Amino acid sequence: MSQKGFTLWFTGLSGAGKTTLAHIVEAEMRRRNLKIEILDGDVVRTNLSKGLGFSKEDRDTNIRRIGFVCHLLSRNGVAAISAAISPYREIRDEVRKMIGDFVEVYVHCPLEVCAKRDVKGLYAKAMSGEIPVFTGVSDPYEEPLNPEVLVDSSKETPEESAQKILKKLEELGYLPKTDEVYSEEEEEEVKRRLEELGYF
Ligand code: ADX
Repeated sequence: MSQKGFTLWFTGLSGAGKTTLAHIVEAEMRRRNLKIEILDGDVVRTNLSKGLGFSKEDRDTNIRRIGFVCHLLSRNGVAAISAAISPYREIRDEVRKMIGDFVEVYVHCPLEVCAKRDVKGLYAKAMSGEIPVFTGVSDPYEEPLNPEVLVDSSKETPEESAQKILKKLEELGYLPKTDEVYSEEEEEEVKRRLEELGYF
């Protein structure tokens, strides 16, 4: 089966679980022989978006850059995954329009839960004012109005959320169902047999 490219766009607060989910979904996609690339906000900000800060303007630039790379990958048959907060609806929708094959996943998690997890220790700094503009605390986060997938990491395990996403991708035809998956060797074998039978 030839792979149709698309972009899987995670959005949600810092610490909601975007990166974790992106990696679980990635592993499952690789198992199904798909080409895939992850653009993670934290990683992108160390290279492609190095030097950008967290003003609205800089965040918009960051998201447009990630969106542009996802667009290039998607149109070349790759499953591109973005895992950045992407707090502004308008820019997410702009990227959606550019890419077309776009699946938005809202990783919902109440602010209190993210702040309690505080994996990177940033919420404590945001709440004490040491970081002056922090998403969800002192800077906006605009929830998606119609995401293709809504997961709630305060109520679901990462595996449960990942299953929801994979199921939606199957429904949309971006992901072969597990029982349709052949390894490269199996595909070669099927092709060889069909050739023998005169189908090619
Ligand atoms: S976005 O707003 O431009 O989409 P992005 O996902 O790339 O953000 O980066 C967010 C990450 O940067 C957070 O997970 C956190 O680790 C870090 N960060 C540092 N300062 C801030 C801030 N003021 N607001 C949000 N995230 C911040």
